[in-house]
Amino acid sequence: MRNRKYDTADLWRKDRDHYLHPWTDFSVFKETGSDVIAEGEGIYVFDSDGRRFIDGIGGLWCVNIGYGREEMAECLAEQARRICYYSTFTHLTTPPAAELAAKLAELAPARLSHVFYGTGGSMANDAAARIIHFYFNRLGKKNKKHIIARIDGYHGSTLLTASITGVMFDRIDFDVLMDFVHHIPCPNPYRRPDGMSVEEFCDEKVADLETKILELGPENVACFFAEPIMGAGGVIVPPSGYHRRTREVCAKYDVVYVSDEVVTGFGRLGHFFASEPVFDLTPDIITCAKGLTSGYQPLSATLLPDFIYDVISVPQAEGAMFTQGFTYSGHPIACAAGLKNIEIIEREDICGHVRAVGPYFEARLNTLRDLPIVGDVRGSHFMLCVEFVADKRTKALLPAEAKIGNLIARHCQARGLIVRPLGHLNVMSPPLIMTREQIDELVAIMRQAIEAAMDDLVRAGHWRGV
Ligand SMILES: Cc1ncc(COP(=O)(O)O)c(C=O)c1O
Repeated sequence: MRNRKYDTADLWRKDRDHYLHPWTDFSVFKETGSDVIAEGEGIYVFDSDGRRFIDGIGGLWCVNIGYGREEMAECLAEQARRICYYSTFTHLTTPPAAELAAKLAELAPARLSHVFYGTGGSMANDAAARIIHFYFNRLGKKNKKHIIARIDGYHGSTLLTASITGVMFDRIDFDVLMDFVHHIPCPNPYRRPDGMSVEEFCDEKVADLETKILELGPENVACFFAEPIMGAGGVIVPPSGYHRRTREVCAKYDVVYVSDEVVTGFGRLGHFFASEPVFDLTPDIITCAKGLTSGYQPLSATLLPDFIYDVISVPQAEGAMFTQGFTYSGHPIACAAGLKNIEIIEREDICGHVRAVGPYFEARLNTLRDLPIVGDVRGSHFMLCVEFVADKRTKALLPAEAKIGNLIARHCQARGLIVRPLGHLNVMSPPLIMTREQIDELVAIMRQAIEAAMDDLVRAGHWRGV
């Protein structure tokens, strides 16, 4: 299969002229177009000219079991042969949709035994919000509409989930829903005020949630959305205890806690779901996508607790129904991919591998701290990032024109590694099968790329050097 010939120039032109990409930087896109990634094998991807790259970003935080798994391809083909699609609306189902729902209920914390399917993380969160509103309506608490999330939280790109998202950069000239979505400050310990301990900072961030609920009136607040580790907002790991304590605040005021595990789920932190084992957090709802199929098919799941299901499943008066759903909810090929993906993760003990090798990855990446522009290295297991600064002491950023994340990503790519630029950060979320040797190679390339970027910065007058 690999080394098929592609007409790169033709693909490049068709793509540039006709594909409106997500997250496009139109200051350069019409000139640069897109790199064409054509094939994959293990932790590697290959461009249409056959160049090989370590995939440091796992597709987009999702290809957890790695590329080119023959048994996945077989499983998808087999399901397409059996039945490619059937509706799951109004009392219809397919074997993979039923089997996967039961499997997810087995893997999730005990109370979360009901699964609503979508096709992506945005849809999982959108559905969570809509179902929570429906739940409170059915309880007669019709004022419970307000949604609280965090600055720099990322929850999706539908109108509702883009509104819940708190990455302010993503909102420039895009409209969001202002009347019932609110944001509290980000619990980023690296950017806490000078002189404040991490414990004091944690107290303050937990208090922010309670203050916001009281300000809005608990009778008006429906839910709180939070990622265990904030991904797209900068791989921010909140202080220890933050999740447990914010969860307690939610419980105190009858506010539903939604743990967005779209990135952290399916092994990235060494567990199928990270909320309880890693963060001592018992959420009311978990949303997941990405690693659920390792990107072999688009699929998401909103995992609901018995107490919500018991309310929304009471028959309604006047023939009304539970009318949330999408044509591709529970798509059989996607669900078959989910089942096979989970089977592979369990059989190969990929979670165990991540728990064993993750700390090594963190330690190796932390060796970059000796470089003068590396301000912070953070994250956990296979979800990590490096933050770049002009001055380590003041944590002042490099000028925006330096586009440091992009610059380093380009230097990495020239050396055979893809990392994700995010403003002044580079993010790493590789396939979970990466070995220690491959991690060494990744970190060695990062070091070379940062050194090359430092030379560029000095030459361009963006940094004074050392
Ligand atoms: C934490 C989190 N939630 C939700 C989403 C949205 O998922 P999707 O892009 O599949 O809609 C993402 C995407 O990166 C995410 O990182």
